[in-house]
Amino acid sequence: MGSNLLYPNFSKNLLPEKFIWPKEKIHSSNQELNEPIIDLEGFHSGDAAATGRIIGLVRSACLSHGLFQVINHGVDLDLINSINDHVNYFFKLPIDEKMRVHRLPGSFWGYSFAHADRFSLNLPWKEIFSCIFCENASASDHSEGALFFKSAFGDQEFEKIRLDFQNYCKAMKKLSLTIMEILGLSLGVDRKFYKEFFEDGSSILRCNFYPPCQEPKQTLGTGPHCDPTALTILYQDRVGGLEVFSDEKWKSVGPQPDALVINLGDTFSALSNGVYKSCPHRAVVNKSMERVSLVYFLCPNEEKVIAPPKNLVSSERVRQYPDFKWSDFLNFTQKYYRVDVATLQNFTKWLISHQPT
Ligand code: OGA
Ligand code: NI
Repeated sequence: MGSNLLYPNFSKNLLPEKFIWPKEKIHSSNQELNEPIIDLEGFHSGDAAATGRIIGLVRSACLSHGLFQVINHGVDLDLINSINDHVNYFFKLPIDEKMRVHRLPGSFWGYSFAHADRFSLNLPWKEIFSCIFCENASASDHSEGALFFKSAFGDQEFEKIRLDFQNYCKAMKKLSLTIMEILGLSLGVDRKFYKEFFEDGSSILRCNFYPPCQEPKQTLGTGPHCDPTALTILYQDRVGGLEVFSDEKWKSVGPQPDALVINLGDTFSALSNGVYKSCPHRAVVNKSMERVSLVYFLCPNEEKVIAPPKNLVSSERVRQYPDFKWSDFLNFTQKYYRVDVATLQNFTKWLISHQPT
């Protein structure tokens, strides 16, 4: 497995076939999404009028496209920059060193490129560095996390880097629980309902690195999909490339200074009985600039059963999805299905057809 697999020889200016996406899947509108930028300051300080406005903005964003940006989110900007630096450092290492932490099938830890170990068509133009953080993970020198960061970053700095990643995920978890409270309020559900539902869950951090691409109009950095998880908090550097499907068009979500992008995933859509849609999105690449995004996925505890609260179910709005366990949905995306914009629908069908009769 050599580096030429990732950075092919462009002497003929051709992209390897497996990175070329069908034309109809790539089309962009060159329009910007008009998503709100929501200042969370008023919610943190308990200002009732500001909280009311925040809830209104979140509700309308989640009814229409499932994505908004937040500022004054409480995550230390220096910490975000440090993670961005660590990630850039890692991706610039020689391929052989990155391959030392190559992600193994079934694992949530490690480096992979283009999902080339799982798929052979419509590959995304990117490299990925993934970690998982559990609430009660051990911090010992021999824990999976410590060993992983040691192999990824070497002896000198790995402990500080591991702590930065851990603190980043803690801060993201805190922010995601705050958003869960706001989502609960915006749906007229007890404000603690969703927050408590996610308190004991793990979270996945996926760091994406998009190298420049000679033929950016023929490929995608990340293909069209909805995140199967509940809530995503995405930091993107200044390059831009995130797009959202809204009004039948792909529209760009430009980087905003100090803001974090929040989008809903399939699991939250199921938990809201389909009232809120999970957000179809993708990432495009460009010819001259590499791009990094840090994507935090909030997941329920594996054993949790995904079912909406009673007040979101009625005779006018019957159950949209059956009960399912998060671990079964996760397993479906790891083993049987390549995540796209219809993962939840197809999982639901699969679940029904596999139910004992
Ligand atoms: C993802 C994702 C978009 C981006 O990793 O799930 O949607 O802009 N990434 O990197
Ligand atoms: Ni995504």
